[in-house]
Parts: sequence; structure tokens; C-alpha cells
Amino acid sequence: MPLLARRMGRAKPSAIMAVAEKAKALKAAGRDIISFSIGVPNFLPGEHVYAAAREALQHDSGQYGSNRGTDALLDAFLAHIKSLGLEGYGRLNCATGIGAKHILYNLAEALLDEGDTIAFPAPYWTTYVDIAEIVNAKYVVLPCTAAQDYKLTPAQLDAALAEHRPKVFLFNNPSNPTGMVYSKDEIGALAKVLVKYPDTWIITDDIYNRMVFDDLGYHNFLHADSSLRDRLIFVDSLSKTYGMPGWRVGFMAGPESVAKALTTLNSNHITNVPEVAVAAAIAALTGPQDVPAAKTREFQAKRDQVLAAMAAIPGVVCPRPQGAFYVFPDCSVAIGKSHNGQRIENDVDLCNALLEAKGVACVPGSAFGSPGAIRISYTCPTAQLPEGLRRIQEFFAELN
Ligand SMILES: Cc1ncc(COP(=O)(O)O)c(C=O)c1O
Repeated sequence: MPLLARRMGRAKPSAIMAVAEKAKALKAAGRDIISFSIGVPNFLPGEHVYAAAREALQHDSGQYGSNRGTDALLDAFLAHIKSLGLEGYGRLNCATGIGAKHILYNLAEALLDEGDTIAFPAPYWTTYVDIAEIVNAKYVVLPCTAAQDYKLTPAQLDAALAEHRPKVFLFNNPSNPTGMVYSKDEIGALAKVLVKYPDTWIITDDIYNRMVFDDLGYHNFLHADSSLRDRLIFVDSLSKTYGMPGWRVGFMAGPESVAKALTTLNSNHITNVPEVAVAAAIAALTGPQDVPAAKTREFQAKRDQVLAAMAAIPGVVCPRPQGAFYVFPDCSVAIGKSHNGQRIENDVDLCNALLEAKGVACVPGSAFGSPGAIRISYTCPTAQLPEGLRRIQEFFAELN
């Protein structure tokens, strides 16, 4: 039998999905499972989004669409990023794709030759490693501990850029899996380092930019130093902000050459974002913003609930997230202990034991390059949250 391409030996299915599958199987077997595992927003967009999609169906052109994205969609995105303070971009600076994941994959294809280096902080979104592996790039991980609030320091960034001279630096703010958000000053300090390395592309994967709590605001390196504009690529998506992960619409804004490269790639695989999804995306971006605003308030309150529960568990260290919908407690205190006679050697054992004993599904931190932690995604129905947290507390109290 002929062989698969070598790159498929490097491609791995998502570690997050593995936990979700196990939780699903237990649920199917009749267990009472509370899922804190998948990073889905768990709400639906406003009715105006569905109305726009229905309307688009009625007027289906029956044609292929634009490889870059329709003018109306690009204009809606441009207005959206202008409201984030990212001004001076035009349609030729933008490209669309089938979600931010597809945009990031395209960017890897467009910016990285085999053997080039991409650097990113850990904890990282799992897909960064997988995409680097598939395109056969080297990746350099910049570990950020709970003690430093999981945030990259300027000194760390400087040292890594000086040592590895990566072709691409990939940054994610607010963060999946930690929920941490960089302040204006922190972004400014990192931007000062970035200007020293003009040969490095900068990707800011900031798809949770609207989900920021405590009036901290969203900050991008471009706010701090506009000279980074000719090598910075901003990535965005409808998935989390608007409760539209399955609609698969993502965006980028950056240098024209990069947007053109992504348009060329699109022309050779997806061709276009489907017409109905485009109409829904425009409605989401330009219509009333009350659903995302209400959800952000709800998530902030849930964040507080999770933090209070974690604070009550002796030894668990839990930095305070200020965005997205994740909490990432360092649970190293549990490693080396036992639950019901079952020894917990690492965070994977911890998540397995928690799922089996208490029916609570979390994702092990090692999936995000941060062993010893677990990710709690708290978008479950509000009524389930206290019970899930109570079970986690009970589990830790039973460790010996
Ligand atoms: C940090 C980050 N970037 C990108 C994505 C991909 O989003 P999309 O659904 O737009 O592909 C996710 C999804 O979980 C994410 O957490």
C-alpha cells in the first residue's frame, strides 16, 4: 500500500477533543457529566444574524465568491477593528478564511518555510504546535509560569528573540488556555522589545478581544508602536465573540503582501467563505452588540465563581484571568498524591481521575505546554457551574 505523506506522521488530533470524547462516552453510558473541557462559548448569536442568513438563502447567487472575502464583509471587519483602535487599514490589508484556525494555518504556509522557527509563549493554544509540526517549522516555546501570571516578560521575549531569531513570533491575547489579558503597560513593554527585531513577523491571535473584564480594555502592539505595522498580522474570528464557532468565519488584517498571499492560498483550496455565512458574519459585526456584551458580563461573574472555588482549595495556585472564558489553576499540589488508591503521577492522571470519580471533564495543562495545571472552560449552563466546582473541591479534599 502506498504511504501517507511524512507530514501526517507529525500531525496529531487535538488533545482537547480526546478529553471531550471520553466525557461524551461516559455520558452516553449514563454518567452525570459536567463538562469544563471544550472551549465553546455555549450561546447563540442574536436573531438578526439568523434573519440575515435566511435572507441570503433567498437570494443565493449560485456563484463562487471572492477569494479574499466580499467587499461588504471586509468593510464590516474594517469597521470592527477600527472600533478596537486598529485604524488605517483598507480592504487590501485583509483576508478572510474558514475560522481563525484556517487563517493561522494559512499564515504558517505563507510565512514559514520548512525549518524556519516560530516562537510563542506557553501556556499556548494546542493548535500552534500542531500547525508548526505540519508545515515542518521548528517551534520555540517561551514558558510562562503561574508565578508570573502566565504572562511573557519583556526580558524573556528579548532573550528568546536574540537567541532564536524566529521568523515568526506568535502572541495570543486574551489567552486560551489561561484567560490572562495583557495590560496597556505590559503590551507597551513587549512592543519595545519587538521593535528591536525587524526580521520577525508578529502574529497577534486576539480572537477574544471583545471578551475582556474589569474594564482592562484590549491592547495590541500597534497601539503602543505603530512602526510594527508592516510586519504585524492581527487575527480575529466570529467564533467566540458572537457564539458562532460552527459558522467558520475568520479574518486577518496586516500588510498587503500577507493578505494577498492568503487570498492566493484561498483561491487554491477553500475558494471562498460560503455566501450564507458571509451574510451572517456581516450581520454579527454590524448589528446590535447586546448579546456579546451580555455574555462578557456573564462570563466575568462566572470567572469570579471559579476563582472563589479555586481559592478555597489548599495548595492550588490560580492567577486571576481577565478575559475569555478559561481559568487555569496550577494543580501541582495534587501530583504524587492518590485518589481512592489511584496514584496521580501527572496532570493527565489528574484529569482522568477527576472525570472518572466526579464526572467533571477538564483539560490537562500539558496539552497547552504547561504540565501540572488544568484548564477549566466555564461556559457550561450557569446552574451547573457551582455543582462542578463543588465536585472539584470534594475531589481535592479526598486526595491523600
Ligand atoms: C486562541 C485561539 N485562536 C484561534 C482559535 C480558532 O478559532 P476559530 O473557531 O475561529 O477557528 C481558537 C479556538 O479555540 C483559540 O482559542
